[in-house]
Amino acid sequence: MDYKAYIELVKKRRSVRSFTDKLVSINDLNKIVDAARYAPSGMNSQPWEFIIIKNQQTINHIFSLFNNRIKDGHNSNSLIIVLGDKRKKTMLPGIKFDFKNGSIKFKKPSKFIDSNALFTSSLSSAFTHMLLAATSLGLSTQYISMTSSYEVQKKIKDLLQIPEYMIIYDTLAIGYAAYVPQEKYIKPLEKMVHIDTYNMNICDSDEQIILDKKNHLYTSFMFKDKNTMKD
Ligand SMILES: Cc1cc2nc3c(=O)[nH]c(=O)nc-3n(C[C@H](O)[C@H](O)[C@H](O)COP(=O)(O)O)c2cc1C
Repeated sequence: MDYKAYIELVKKRRSVRSFTDKLVSINDLNKIVDAARYAPSGMNSQPWEFIIIKNQQTINHIFSLFNNRIKDGHNSNSLIIVLGDKRKKTMLPGIKFDFKNGSIKFKKPSKFIDSNALFTSSLSSAFTHMLLAATSLGLSTQYISMTSSYEVQKKIKDLLQIPEYMIIYDTLAIGYAAYVPQEKYIKPLEKMVHIDTYNMNICDSDEQIILDKKNHLYTSFMFKDKNTMKD
């Protein structure tokens, strides 16, 4: 694959929050997870595992745990939950998992490496591989981050019999898009790339950040999405 094909794939990936009824095949879901396991991870710890959920009752149950706080994506027919195995932190500098008591112990916190960040970044890289794999298969995705919140996570772990040492990193809803997402604002390259030293002239001022937030420069498409829905 050359850069042109790669950047086209990257640009094609968008979050979609409503899906058609068309079922995602287990073959495609397996391909998506397969791509994730090649992701880079701190010390090659590969701290991830995945639960593919195709059972509609289970999906409905999970969405019901949000108490109507999120309605988007509720019509998806496939979820992939990405789990992080806390025991694998043992492979990272400065951290020991107490296998008897199930707690994390900082041996001697490393001055040079934040191992908790390494763990999270590893899971994040697996997630990104999944997003791009799904896009390459003509599928669309949505993060369902509320599944990692303390209360919801506890309930999902009970429901799916997930062991204590696993954390829910995040969940991906996958399906065929029911609408075309609105174009989103992408900050120009020259406003974010510094050469050799940090250049204060290109950075956002405090006022600019507040103004952009007020004007929904970054988020407005989320509200506009609905206008372009097919159904
Ligand atoms: C860490 C992370 C968590 C996110 N959580 C959610 C979420 O819970 N629900 C949702 O609809 N979108 C979620 N998103 C998607 C973002 O809103 C989306 O990526 C962003 O608005 C840019 O739009 P795009 O994905 O179409 O490029 C999340 C994205 C990231 C990176």
